[in-house]
Amino acid sequence: MNWIVWDNTLDTGHALIDSDHQELARLFNLLPETAGMPRGKELCGKVLGQIIAHARAHFEREQQLMAEHRYPKIAQHSAEHAMLLDQALIYQAEFDANASEPDIALIDFPEVWLSFHILFSDKDLARFLAQTA
Ligand SMILES: [Fe+2]
Ligand SMILES: [Fe+2]
Repeated sequence: MNWIVWDNTLDTGHALIDSDHQELARLFNLLPETAGMPRGKELCGKVLGQIIAHARAHFEREQQLMAEHRYPKIAQHSAEHAMLLDQALIYQAEFDANASEPDIALIDFPEVWLSFHILFSDKDLARFLAQTA
């Protein structure tokens, strides 16, 4: 079962940004698999940690690109990254505090968490980068 089905609606056209996003989607899609396994709680917690680490590194890469190319919306875009990271850390804290085994139906880490950001903000950034390249 895939939570995030990668199709070209999520493609920004920027190779580095897209490969980061695809890796994030791959990690997200591990959540439903690991939740059903023995030691699901522990495994899901690890995947969650990987998602957050990858997201953090990815946001930094985008912010570096924005700074290098003097993207005019850098402040707004970086603020969105900070908000997404905060939401993920809150979710992780709640997940860690809940001792029960994860029920996949109850894992509500929002698939839309990153999708809207990709669809609007990252695509806007990629269009800008394509013009300035
Ligand atoms: Fe972004
Ligand atoms: Fe992104």
